[in-house]
Formats: sequence, C-alpha cells, structure tokens
Amino acid sequence: MISVKNNRLFVGDVAASDLAKRFGTPAYVYDEETVRSKVRALFQGISYRPLKVYYAAKANTNLAILKIIREEGGQGIGIDAVSVGEIECALKAGFRPGQVIFTSTSVTDEEMKFAIAKKVLVNCDSLSQLERYGKLAPGSKVCFRVNPDVGAGHHGHVITGGPESKFGVWVDDVGRAFGIAAKYRLKIVGIHEHIGSGILETGKFLAAMKILLTIIDKHRDKFSDLEFVDFGGGIGVPYRPDQKQIDFKVFGSAVSTLFADFCRSFGKKLSLAIEPGRFIVAESGLLLCTVNTVKRTPAHKFVGVDTGFNHLIRPMAYGSYHPIIVAENCNGNAGEKKEKVAVCGNICESGDVFTRNEEGIADRELPPIKEGAVLAILVAGAYGFSMASTYNTRPRPPEILVSGRNAKIIRRKEDLAHVIYGM
Ligand SMILES: Cc1ncc(COP(=O)(O)O)c(C=O)c1O
Repeated sequence: MISVKNNRLFVGDVAASDLAKRFGTPAYVYDEETVRSKVRALFQGISYRPLKVYYAAKANTNLAILKIIREEGGQGIGIDAVSVGEIECALKAGFRPGQVIFTSTSVTDEEMKFAIAKKVLVNCDSLSQLERYGKLAPGSKVCFRVNPDVGAGHHGHVITGGPESKFGVWVDDVGRAFGIAAKYRLKIVGIHEHIGSGILETGKFLAAMKILLTIIDKHRDKFSDLEFVDFGGGIGVPYRPDQKQIDFKVFGSAVSTLFADFCRSFGKKLSLAIEPGRFIVAESGLLLCTVNTVKRTPAHKFVGVDTGFNHLIRPMAYGSYHPIIVAENCNGNAGEKKEKVAVCGNICESGDVFTRNEEGIADRELPPIKEGAVLAILVAGAYGFSMASTYNTRPRPPEILVSGRNAKIIRRKEDLAHVIYGM
C-alpha cells in the first residue's frame, strides 16, 4: 500500500526517497498490492456470477501490471483492448484470446482482420463497422456498442454517451444492427455501452445500466444468441481531498440485483461484464520527481520539477487534480508554516503546471520546499505513463514496481536514441 509513516512517504515497505535515489527521477512507481486489492474489491463487491471484468488496458499497458491483474482476477478477468497494440499487450501478458474484447472506434478493416486472426471478439462501434465485419467474418460471433444517449464523467473529453459523443451505434439505430447481423449470419453474443470515465456518482452508472437493459428488452426477440451485457468502465476513484471512495458494498449489490432481476425476466442467465481501467490502477501509481528550481513572480511561487505534462498530461488536458506530497516531509514538520506554491514542469509551455484546474494555475498549500526535495504526484497509475509522450524531445521515464520490500524496473528509462529518429 502507499502510506505515510513518520512523515515519510512509503510505497509498500520502501521509502519513496530511497526509490528516487536508487532509480533516479522522474520515475513512475506502482505498488503491486494496491493493484491486487482493487481487483479483489471488484470481484468481492459485485456478487453476481458469471462476472467478467475486462480491465481497460488503455489506463496502463505495462505487461508486468497486466500479468498481476491476470493472476489476481483468475477466471473472470479479461482485457478491453482498443487497438491492435493493446490486443498484442494482452496476449503477451498471457491472456487467452477468448479473454479479450476489441472495442475500438473508427476501425479499419486491417485492424479487424488482425483481431479476427487472433480469435479476439470484435465489439463494433458503428453500423458501418458491423457491415464490414460481417463481410470479413460471416457466421461469427460479434458484439456491438450502443450510445444510450446518456453520458457521465470527470470532464467533457471523457463523456462517451450522448449526441456529442462519437461512440457506439446511436440508440435509435439499434434495430438496424439486426438486419446487418442477419445478412451475414452474425451471432450477436454481446451488447455494450460505456458512458464515460471517472464516475463517482454511481447513480449515473446504474441509470445507464437500466437504459441499456430497456433497449435489450425492447428488442428481446432479436437477442436469442445474447451471452453477456457489458456496461463499460468509468468507475471513479477519489483524486481531490473532498472526494470519497465509492461504497462498493452498496454499489456492487445494486449492480448485481439489477442485473439478476433483468436476467430473470429475460429468461436467461447472462454474464455481467464491466471494463474498469482507472479503478484498478490509478491509486497504485505515483510519479516521483525532484525539485530543481524555486522562483517567484508577483502572482506565484513556482516550484519547478524534472518532469512535465509530457509524462503526466491529465492536469494540462483536463485541469485534473492530483495530490502532491513532499516525500520526506509529507505532513510538514512541527512549527513549519505551509506555503502556497505552483508546482510546474520542465516543458516549454505555460500550461505545464501540475497544480491547476480548468481555468489555470491553482496554488497548492505544501510544506516548505527546497531545491533537491523529492515530490510524489499521487494517483497517477492510470492514464499517466500510458498517455506520456516525448514532447520537447524528452525521453519517457522508467516504470518501477514495488512488491513489499522489493522494487524492480518494469520498463527501462528511455534515452535519446528512443526519441531521436535515425540516431
Ligand atoms: C470502451 C471503454 N471501456 C472502458 C474504459 C475505461 O474507463 P475507466 O478507466 O474510466 O474505467 C474506457 C475509457 O475510456 C473506454 O473507452
């Protein structure tokens, strides 16, 4: 677990500052036990069986992390892959093709051919894709995604339901999918929705579940091959101090009851599928960095670190809040006065500030920080490294896995040869 002991930050049993010394900064660090505990929380919290948890690999595709998730999840675990690359990651991590679902958007025939060759189930995002899939693999099993005209999420960019969203077959067009399926003798074994990401109001998730179930019910005579209903991911985690963990006992039991009741009326025990990404990995990870510059303007005291939005883009892209902690002085020493600072990165854009919201810089109260201090940007295990880039021709950092008192490199730090083409 990630914890504070005697004012020092620990990942598992290892002090974060020791990790910084050993592996250097910047570095992504993950705690194995946190990943495992989140997988367990899902299977314990949702009692309905059969339950399929397709981990949304886009949140973090590191093979070591995928292997941990596979081991911990056992029979019920799988991968939601959005690209050929993610299918390959899943298979490399030891998932069987039958445990992978390919849910992409604006999909090419070549990408579908790849999935078909690998025997991975294709989840069609449009009537166009369904038609093209039918031509490529007539008589096979298929799933399709519905845009249920409701969405939710932590930011407009990640709301994936409703008329502004490019995803899925629009709710009013669902009837047309059956005609296409019949033309190519496709067996519709699954139906899918994903309304958005970072949902802490579970009522919205449950409301969307009800809408999808109503759609199935409306077309029930057409769903004779249905085996599973996939309600997507989006389960949120707290980032801000005022946000709370979802009560999984309450949420899990509501999900199970709703689905069990539906299956009774539908007359078939279907599998319940979900696709959490963030929920499984976000809280396991942090980005360690070192302060190299402290300076002022009339408006802010800037604390400059050796990483930037190239490595963690969420604050810049969404105005997202990430907790930031001084690794060797987490709560502040007695008698010390906290200071309002702006923690900024090393990328040549003014937006490269980790302490910000959608409007701009939002100073954070932290214990006094000197150059050389190690900081940890927390809750960075999801959409951290997987969204990292080499902007400003800066290599991407290493990824480190901590298991109890052991720490090892699970992705080497890049060097300039990774970044400079032809070098
Ligand atoms: C189809 C699909 N499923 C699952 C997810 C995972 O979302 P989250 O990480 O919020 O659980 C996403 C995220 O964008 C998605 O597009």
